[in-house]
Amino acid sequence: MLFYSNLQSSMAHLQTLQLHQFRNIHQAELHFGPGLNLLVGDNAAGKTSVIESLWLLASGRSFRSHKPQQLIELEQKQLVLFCEVMQHDRHYKLGLQRDHQGLTLKINAEKQPSQSEFARHLPIQLLTPESHRLLEEGPKARRQFLDWGCFYHYPEFMPNWRHYSRALKQRNMNLKNPENRRDAAIWNPIMIEAGHSINQLRQRYLKEITPYILAFCERLMPELHTQAEFQFYPGWPATKPDFANLLHDNLQRDIQLGFTQYGCHRADIKIKINKNEPLIGLSRGQQKLFVCALLLAQARFLAEQTQDSVIMLIDDLPAELDLSHRINLLKLLDELKIQHLITTTALDLIPNPNECRAFQIHQGVIKPIN
Ligand SMILES: Nc1ncnc2c1ncn2[C@@H]1O[C@H](COP(=O)(O)OP(=O)(O)OP(=O)(O)O)[C@@H](O)[C@H]1O
Ligand SMILES: [Mg+2]
Repeated sequence: MLFYSNLQSSMAHLQTLQLHQFRNIHQAELHFGPGLNLLVGDNAAGKTSVIESLWLLASGRSFRSHKPQQLIELEQKQLVLFCEVMQHDRHYKLGLQRDHQGLTLKINAEKQPSQSEFARHLPIQLLTPESHRLLEEGPKARRQFLDWGCFYHYPEFMPNWRHYSRALKQRNMNLKNPENRRDAAIWNPIMIEAGHSINQLRQRYLKEITPYILAFCERLMPELHTQAEFQFYPGWPATKPDFANLLHDNLQRDIQLGFTQYGCHRADIKIKINKNEPLIGLSRGQQKLFVCALLLAQARFLAEQTQDSVIMLIDDLPAELDLSHRINLLKLLDELKIQHLITTTALDLIPNPNECRAFQIHQGVIKPIN
């Protein structure tokens, strides 16, 4: 396949992870290998919690709880996560502490004002039994897919996204307040300027990544002969392409609604598989494989453009895929030299787990398997 040349041997990888008072894990330390890492344990052992801790380090959020307090071990006052990453031959120590006062983030012992530097050092992708929701639910997950790529590829994306988000928040606050509704329009110029850049970058990313997605669909689901089409929706109707005019003309309507109806915050990707909606054109298993293709495309494109490599977290792989598709995916991850952490309830559900680092987890206690 055309994308497998030029893989760098110095790609980034996660070396260690320490958890302290995180969910049901009181204290644990994992030393990862560069390829396949397996975490094996019964239901409720704490497998998803380990995956969640890495996602929290990378994104500042949990994928299953909005309340940070729930992440702290019951009857404890704080949680601490610490990991070591090698990236472009440099060593980084990332520490996160959460207590009732809030969040403290440190890289190499230096305090960080925001999570974005953590994300830079930990380009993590996540596949869970719920990942097919990217195709099923509203546009948020599809926007996050685009923004993940824009964040790593285009340095101008993040400042523009911050400007846009702040202006949108202020505008919506004004729209809701009867005393200064008319002030909402003050925020239009910032939203228009930042929105223009966000819009361009998202379109560019989708265009650049599309051939990679198609190639990985073919590789993961050769039986399907997937003809996938991706159409970018900027967050406002094609019949009214001028966002500046649209914001201006819709002020009255926005005041009635109490929020900003159109803009980058409503962007989406319209996906068609063999001319159908994905939910009609694909079985449930194929939907999961399609999401895998999206993630692998991002990983490969990132590796080619930046020599950075993603760390792929796959929670409950057997729940995702049957044996032949599991073998296919593991082979692909190995070829692409992607470091991956996979959880499973039984070791024998993972084909050929010889070339791997394996850990057993039982009631929150983690031990290496020899
Ligand atoms: N804050 C907390 N303190 C202590 N225990 C917690 C906390 N939050 C969740 N738990 C418990 O941690 C356990 C581990 O949950 P987790 O979802 O990580 O298990 P799992 O190994 O992924 O299980 P499954 O195979 O069913 O997906 C559960 O029993 C849960 O009730
Ligand atoms: Mg789980």
